[in-house]
Order: sequence, then C-alpha cells, then structure tokens
Amino acid sequence: MKIFVTDGHGVEHEVEAQDGWTIMEIIRDAGLPIKAECGGSCVCATCHVLVDDEWFAKLPEKNEEEIDMLDLALEVFDTSRLSCQIEFDKSLDGLKVKIAQDALM
Ligand code: FES
Repeated sequence: MKIFVTDGHGVEHEVEAQDGWTIMEIIRDAGLPIKAECGGSCVCATCHVLVDDEWFAKLPEKNEEEIDMLDLALEVFDTSRLSCQIEFDKSLDGLKVKIAQDALM
C-alpha cells in the first residue's frame, strides 16, 4: 500500500504506507520534511497537510481536538487536516496529501 506526498518544492513522492500508522508517521518515516513537533499528541499543528480534493471526503471526520488545533495553523484551507490524527488503513491506499507550508522543516 502507498500514499503520495507532495513536498515544498511541488515534487510528489510515492511512499510505502503501513496499516495502523498515522499519515504523519508514514511521512516522517519516509524521511520527508514534516515538522510534527509534538510527535503526534495533537498539540502543535505542525503536521498540517492539504488533502487532495477527491480524497478529503473519504477521510474519517475530525475530532474536537483536531479542530481546535487546526485553528492554530497559519493558513487553513477547506482540505486542511492534521496528519497525526489520520490513521492509515487499506481504504486510504493511494491517498494524496501535500505538506502545508507551516509544517515544512
Ligand atoms: Fe503535533 Fe500532529 S504532530 S499536532
């Protein structure tokens, strides 16, 4: 299974994805430059990604914590999510995200 991650230069990377890992962990493990300062505890908003339009509706809903924390992100778009709050499973095989400007290292 895989996901596609676009970096700050607009380059798309095909990344191996593991069931049960969060999208943030998958991006970080692939060595791509995502800050994810709090390590996935939903207290930093530096794992902000923009989800491809087609995929956005297929994701599980945001919980309260994610909604509150996203408010602190610099520039929030309709398809903004915190990647540490999305757990990968096979229904997300092929997911496309872009690392947001404020989450880039
Ligand atoms: Fe901090 Fe996701 S890594 S909120």
